[in-house]
Amino acid sequence: PTVVYQLPDGSTSSVDVPAGQTVMDGSVRNNLPGIVAECGGSCSCATCHVYLHEDSAAVFGEATAEERDLLEFLEGVQPCSRLACQLVLSPDAGTVTVAVPSSDY
Ligand code: FES
Repeated sequence: PTVVYQLPDGSTSSVDVPAGQTVMDGSVRNNLPGIVAECGGSCSCATCHVYLHEDSAAVFGEATAEERDLLEFLEGVQPCSRLACQLVLSPDAGTVTVAVPSSDY
């Protein structure tokens, strides 16, 4: 799968991410800005907040209750908000697009 990251500075970065890894992994491994991932992906820090593009939403399952609880307290949260560490890429995910908010710095 490929993840297209729309970065806070307006640039776009397209990354091949192996199936089984998350949208957070693809960002962290390539040192992209905006996804801090303080907790390392255990769904407890919410510093991996992204906006999932609506065309890509169907690729992933619904947010778990745990994820929704964390998102609730974030600034700038929108209906398409997700935690990138919970977005696991399946082999047939294709290309997914996320916007990375700058408020996570
Ligand atoms: Fe901490 Fe996603 S990396 S909640």
